[in-house]
Amino acid sequence: MPDIRIKRLKCYAMESLIEEGQELIEATEKGAVRDAGLIGAAQKVEHYEIATYGTLCSLAEQLGYTEAKNILAETLKEEKSTDDKLTTLAKENVNKKAG
Ligand SMILES: [Fe+2]
Repeated sequence: MPDIRIKRLKCYAMESLIEEGQELIEATEKGAVRDAGLIGAAQKVEHYEIATYGTLCSLAEQLGYTEAKNILAETLKEEKSTDDKLTTLAKENVNKKAG
């Protein structure tokens, strides 16, 4: 793999998603409704990460960077697993209490 150095870029999308979660905290009281909203906010972050790692994984594969592709695929798997756990938490517990 070539030695590639890129300038660190600020991720405005992720910053906005985090701000959205903060606003949700400020707009709700402590309890199940806030928890349900925060799970949704966290899932937005996970989905953004899944899109990002999925894209990078495909690029690495197409460019023949097998080691990078494998690392990215492992991270992608972790992000999907986190999203699944959040879905389970919401469906089996928090959403019912929030309703
Ligand atoms: Fe994540």
